[in-house]
Order: sequence, then C-alpha cells, then structure tokens
Amino acid sequence: MSLLRQPLLLLARSQQVKKLVTKMPVSAGIVRGYVPGEDTRSAVEATAGLVDDHLRVTLDYLGEDTLDADRADATVQAYLDLLAALSARGLTRHAEVSVKLSAIGQALPQYGHKIALENARTICRAARNAGTTVTIDMEDHTTADATLATLRELRKDFPETGAVLQAYLHRTESDCRALAYEGSRVRLCKGAYDEPEDVAFQGQLDVDRSFVRCLKVLLGGQGYPMIATHDPRMIRIASSLASRYGREAASYEFQMLYGVRPEEQLRLAEAGETMRVYVPYGTEWYGYLMRRMAERPQNLTFFLRSLISKR
Ligand code: FDA
Repeated sequence: MSLLRQPLLLLARSQQVKKLVTKMPVSAGIVRGYVPGEDTRSAVEATAGLVDDHLRVTLDYLGEDTLDADRADATVQAYLDLLAALSARGLTRHAEVSVKLSAIGQALPQYGHKIALENARTICRAARNAGTTVTIDMEDHTTADATLATLRELRKDFPETGAVLQAYLHRTESDCRALAYEGSRVRLCKGAYDEPEDVAFQGQLDVDRSFVRCLKVLLGGQGYPMIATHDPRMIRIASSLASRYGREAASYEFQMLYGVRPEEQLRLAEAGETMRVYVPYGTEWYGYLMRRMAERPQNLTFFLRSLISKR
C-alpha cells in the first residue's frame, strides 16, 4: 500500500489541519469532484442528474465521530429533510441513504449505542415511509461489533436495512457467512481506515484475495450483495462469479463513489448492471476527502495546489 496512506489517514482525524483545509470553498476543484455540495438542494440535484443517467444513488450526509448530542440530532434532521425532498421529487425508487452511526450518537459517552440505535430507527422509519431503504456504513474496527449489533436490532423492524463489511478485516469472511441470508442487503468494500495488523490484512494482494473470498460467499449465498469497488479486476471477477452462481442482474448491484470512474459507472449501467453511486454531501467533507486522498495519492498534488491558491 502507498507510503502516504497512513499519514493521510492520520491527517483525516487532525482538527488543526481540518480547520485549515475547510477554509477552502467547497467549490474548489478537488472537493467539488467528490462532494456535489453542502446542502439538501445540491444533493437532490446531483441525485436527479444521476438517476437521469440510469444510475441508482445512496446519499450520505457527511459528519462522523460526533461527540455532541445536538449535532447528532441535527444530522438525523438532515436525513429526514433529505428523504422528504427526495420523495417530493419522486426519486426514492432509485435513491436510498447511507448512515454512519458515529454521526448520530454512537460515540457519545454512556448511552451512545442506545442513542444511535434510536436515531437510526427514526431514519429507517422515515426511509420506509418514503419508499426507500437505509444502509449502515462501517467505520473503524473498534466499532464493528457494536455496529453489527445495532444492525441486528434494526433488522428486527426494518429487515431491508443494509450492512457494510470491509474485506481488509480478518473477521469479514465469517461475517459474510453470517449475513448471506435471504433478503439481507450487504455492501462489500475493501475498507478505508488505518487498521492494525492484528485485525486487518496490510498488503493490497491480501486485501484483494479476501475481497474475492467474500464475493464468493455473498454471491453464492441467498442475500443481495452490493459490490462497492472501483477496482477493474474486482469488478471483472464479481461479474464472472455472478454468472457462475446463476445470479440475474437484479439480484445484486455494483456501487462506486461519486466522482470516481464516472465513465465506468455509465458503462456498467449501459451493460445492464445495477449501478449505485454513493453521493456524500454537507459541510463536514474533510474526513471523507482525506480518505479519498489516501486511496489515490496522485490526487494530492491537485489538492495541495488548490489549497495554496485559495490562501
Ligand atoms: P483500490 O483503492 O484498492 O483501488 C484499486 C483500483 O481501482 C486502482 O488501482 C484503480 O485502478 C481503481 N481506482 C480506485 N480509485 C480510483 C480513482 N479515484 N480513479 C480512478 N481509478 C480508481 N469504506 C469503509 O471503510 N466503510 C464504508 O462504509 C464504505 N462505504 C463505501 C461505499 C461505496 C459505494 C464505495 C465505492 C466505497 C466505500 N468505502 C467504504 C470505501 C472503500 O472501503 C475503499 O476505501 C474505496 O472504495 C477504495 O477501494 P477500491 O475497492 O475502489 O480499490
């Protein structure tokens, strides 16, 4: 993996660098390439454009590691406003939402898990009333057990709630087995955080091998796999496994991030695959952007140039 990955992921959690970087207007080239805007209106506009192109969407109101109950409430309200706006535009057949539990209270002291569960229930209820679904994003490994426990609780009332599993964790193949049951929506991604070697594969090859083992479990199982990767090799392997297991196009989907390989997103949709784009929006784009830089340090040059030109 890139030498820059670890320092960039550390910077993703630095409050000082965050202050400096977020002075850049969101329209500054590189940010705009990954985040269509800061408010509900721009999120809905971006969604409408993607749906016109026959793509599906999952929207993420940016914000994570919230240590403030009011902020968690504001995030819940942002999702409710978003779902209402998507419904008013007739977009909920093609657009769902992705939620980070740490943005809705999981990290709050004492009752964090309970608060996050109740907040997630509120969002799931609003999503169902609007005719759509929620997927619970996965964050760093220290939260994996709690996040999966919350998911199990949510699925009692909202079985359509999606899970996310990260192929870089040693545990994930076994988590895939547990979640490959009928009706279970599971997003498989490689994983975006800086994880220690006792819990996570460190080399790209090992992560890719794990991704393929997990694909076999999910595509060979009874659930609805959501294959979240930009990696051309993983996409090719997933397509051939899908036909080997006799999967129809509507029984799984591909997912990619907004602004990443957009031509490939269109190509897959045109080829008859279900292709969903993850659209993050909001003012708290810093941590998200730094994780994207860590994945592709070539973008760092453009990023630093736009940072310097705005100061
Ligand atoms: P990787 O980064 O290994 O890249 C492999 C290859 O893909 C590259 O060599 C290149 O060919 C191509 N590629 C990658 N990025 C490119 C770019 N910017 N431009 C052009 N080509 C590019 N993570 C997490 O921990 N929790 C979560 O909940 C989620 N959720 C999530 C949802 C969705 C829809 C996606 C697509 C991803 C996530 N992730 C995530 C992030 C994920 O874990 C991972 O960090 C990124 O997707 C990058 O991994 P890739 O599989 O794309 O391949």
